[in-house]
Amino acid sequence: MKQACEILSIKYPIIQGGMGNISNAILVAAVSNAGGLGTIGCGTMAPGAIEQIIMETKKRTAQPFALNIALTVSEYVDDIIRLAIKHQVSAVTLSAGNPAPYIPILKQNGIRIIVVVASVLHAKKAEKAGADILVAEGYEAAGINSSLELTTFTLIPQIVKKVKIPVFAAGGIGDGKGLAAALMLGASGVQIGTRLIATAEAPFHQTYKEKLLKANGEDTIVLGRPYGRVRRVLKGEYAEGLADLEQRGMTFREFQQKTSETYHIKGAIDGDFQHGYVNSGQVAGLIDDVPSVKQLIESMMRDARLQISKIAENFRFD
Ligand SMILES: Cc1cc2nc3c(=O)[nH]c(=O)nc-3n(C[C@H](O)[C@H](O)[C@H](O)COP(=O)(O)O)c2cc1C
Repeated sequence: MKQACEILSIKYPIIQGGMGNISNAILVAAVSNAGGLGTIGCGTMAPGAIEQIIMETKKRTAQPFALNIALTVSEYVDDIIRLAIKHQVSAVTLSAGNPAPYIPILKQNGIRIIVVVASVLHAKKAEKAGADILVAEGYEAAGINSSLELTTFTLIPQIVKKVKIPVFAAGGIGDGKGLAAALMLGASGVQIGTRLIATAEAPFHQTYKEKLLKANGEDTIVLGRPYGRVRRVLKGEYAEGLADLEQRGMTFREFQQKTSETYHIKGAIDGDFQHGYVNSGQVAGLIDDVPSVKQLIESMMRDARLQISKIAENFRFD
């Protein structure tokens, strides 16, 4: 855990997952100022818009933060890497694609490389290609997931066993108990997404936050299975309509069009669940307040420590 924090120059082993197109400088800086690693989710954004967020984030925090590039989602991967180098962003998270071609240039420029994986095979490949840190994401997680659909609880120890670099657990973590559990499984820290939506600084529509407060664990659905494009979203009129269209044989092209960023932004930023959708992980069922990012991160750290010492005191095997 200490080693992972040293690699990323952060105080607490908590990474904000990239949230393509919708995570703004306020949220990213709040996470970094609270001791975690904030992440700008580049999504499909053009380089000019990303550069603006980088500059605004730098105004709001002197702490390290990351850029997330979802490789098969962005048309601007090379431009974003140039931006990361130009602005000396301290880490880049590579997800949803093959990271290997991009690792050497980031390394040469002293940028830490975090790779999101969902299988032992990909974890080993990313380590071999030169990743500094892995995020291993189970399919409880919000948003685009691996079609392999492995759960966090089983994925983390399998990967930890097979690689030497630090592994952060993602998918289903929303409190100190989840953080403690991830550490017990051998992770060096956690990456969280859904839990951060329901925070004071998150720039998302109030309806999105309220829906997460009301949600149970079964209030998410997985879209995109027929096309090998698994995406976990919150139930809602538009999202359930998409599930219905899938059943009725919607083409891949239609699916891509109907789940494009326009509809994601309609849900997440405009709070319009009739014409748009939002990402959510199963951990939605655990969320029942809207703290500040600092309160959330500190309570996770405090509670994880409490849970670990309680177990250490009470666990007996004679
Ligand atoms: C609104 C939202 C948007 C997301 N967009 C991205 C993205 O653009 N790239 C990415 O790698 N992961 C994305 N994710 C996944 C998160 O980075 C993170 O790994 C995931 O949310 C962790 O699981 P959890 O939701 O159970 O905490 C997104 C998650 C959310 C909630």
